[in-house]
Amino acid sequence: MKQLDKDIERTVVSEEEIGRIIERLKGELEHAYAGKCPIVVGLLKGCILFMSDLVQRLDFHLELAFMDVSSYYGGLHAAADVKIEKDIDMAVKDRHILIAEDIVDSGRTLRAVISLLEHRGAASVKVVTLLDKPEGRAIDYTPDFIGVRIPNVFVVGYGLDYEGRYRNLPYVGLLKPKIYS
Ligand code: IMP
Ligand code: MG
Repeated sequence: MKQLDKDIERTVVSEEEIGRIIERLKGELEHAYAGKCPIVVGLLKGCILFMSDLVQRLDFHLELAFMDVSSYYGGLHAAADVKIEKDIDMAVKDRHILIAEDIVDSGRTLRAVISLLEHRGAASVKVVTLLDKPEGRAIDYTPDFIGVRIPNVFVVGYGLDYEGRYRNLPYVGLLKPKIYS
């Protein structure tokens, strides 16, 4: 990954660590979902690498779905308005839903998606996230299954982007400051 690596200041979560995290989450999720056939809902586009690597390891029946949402943080208001760019294409009523996310920061996107799916009658709505930035929280929210907590820094790779790029980096890293300027 020479072309991409040269823009990275340092690695925050290595490929090896991601592998270990997924192995641990596999145990937690198999314990929680065996026999329940949940719908794993990926939030595009950031979810795709993590979701793909994770679901391959899960030894229980599940279905896949995707949503694409964008958040508008209106002015001084703490509440986010979430616009559904692409809605889930199956009924969620009475189904167990496991949302797969790349990172939880303010928590606003997830809160909106969770309340929407609960409103539609899901039996349960939980979240698995690779990364958690608890210092970024604007609301009180804790994801159900967390890969690793990181400090309040902007990271890219393994699904996470800066202006649309770096999602294909196989690890999570800090961008060099010169890339921002
Ligand atoms: P929030 O929890 O509603 O603030 O939104 C989380 C979303 O913001 C994630 O799904 C990412 O798309 C984006 N995001 C937050 N922190 C980062 C970061 O460090 N790098 C790249 N995207 C981020
Ligand atoms: Mg995202």
